[in-house]
Amino acid sequence: MSEQELHTLISTAIAAAERAYIPYSHYPVGAALRATDGQVFTGCNIENASYPATICAERTALVKAVSEGVREFECIVVATRNAGSPCGICRQMMYEFAPEMRLLIVDFDGNVRWDGALQELLPLGFGPGSL
Ligand code: THU
Repeated sequence: MSEQELHTLISTAIAAAERAYIPYSHYPVGAALRATDGQVFTGCNIENASYPATICAERTALVKAVSEGVREFECIVVATRNAGSPCGICRQMMYEFAPEMRLLIVDFDGNVRWDGALQELLPLGFGPGSL
C-alpha cells in the first residue's frame, strides 16, 4: 500500500463515521478495512435500543468483507473524534482473520495516535491455531 493509498484509507474511515447510527452514545466511529487484493470495506457503529445489540464500526467492516468472501486483510483504519481505541470484542474478531494486519487509530483530523500490528493490541491472543 502506497502512502497515497494510506491517506485515502484514512479519509475513507473518517467519512464512514458520518454514517454512524448513534442515537444513544452520540459517539461516531468509522472504519476502513483494506483487503490484500486492494478492496476496501467501510464500517460505522450501528446502535440499538437493546444496547448490547450494537455493532461496532470495525466489526461492521469485517462482516461486510467476510460475507462477500474476502478473508485476507492488510490494514484497518479506525477513526473517532478522540482517537479512541478499538474495543476487545473487535480486536478478537479481527484477530481471527488477520493478527498481523496493520491497524491505525486516528482522530477526525487524521492525526495518527497509533500505528502497529493488530496482535500488539491483543497479546497472547486466542485464535484459530489455539484450538
Ligand atoms: N464503538 C465502536 O464502534 N468501536 C469500538 O471499537 C469501540 C466502541 C462504538 C460502540 C458504540 O456505538 C459507541 O462506540 C460507544 O461505545
